[in-house]
Amino acid sequence: MGAGAVLAPSIFAESNRPSILQTSTNSYDPIPFPQPPLPYAFNALEPHIDAQTMEIHYGKHHAAYTKNFNQLAKDEMIDNKTVEEIFAEIDKYSAGVRNNGGGYYNHNLFWLTLSPNGGGEPTGELLKEIEKNFGSFSAFKETFNKAATTVFGSGWAWLIKQDGALKIVSSPNQDNPLMNISKEKGSPLMCIDVWEHAYYLKYQNKRADYIAAFWNLVDWNFVSANLLK
Ligand SMILES: [Fe+2]
Repeated sequence: MGAGAVLAPSIFAESNRPSILQTSTNSYDPIPFPQPPLPYAFNALEPHIDAQTMEIHYGKHHAAYTKNFNQLAKDEMIDNKTVEEIFAEIDKYSAGVRNNGGGYYNHNLFWLTLSPNGGGEPTGELLKEIEKNFGSFSAFKETFNKAATTVFGSGWAWLIKQDGALKIVSSPNQDNPLMNISKEKGSPLMCIDVWEHAYYLKYQNKRADYIAAFWNLVDWNFVSANLLK
């Protein structure tokens, strides 16, 4: 990923923008895949996502995936590889690398999909591509909502670029479309976490309500940047 290719919410200075794939393993770094700082406060996404959920989600769940992934990368002697390179041959590694590496990357992308200044509708090239591939923004949302709602158990829904076209797909557990074992492969532009830990405290079993609230937070600048890179 080139420098500046990932756009964090516009309130952050260029130097503070986290890159989700800025690191790779090497023999000298004890933590090759650090957890990027959350680019907003835990309570910044309220009322749509509550502070306690964010604190536990980032501070416990994501932190645990990150810690485990770094340990497993060391144990399995994964050297000089980016996350994308690891995912491209994920079937060569243990289930632990697949689950924790996915958990590490997926949440990195999810935090940047969200912004306290998000919501509204996309514009420019992204809107054109959405209209070309889905007919309209509302049809796009409907398809994305259906994908996110119908993930059975824990998983993710994604907007990806696949062979030059936009597509909405879902994945189970912590799998993602960059993994070579994935049925649907492509470059992720945005995602939503539909594990219960992402919404249960505020929304209980009402996943659809959480998904509806998610649209108030989507950072279209970030999604656009991912389309254009
Ligand atoms: Fe999660």
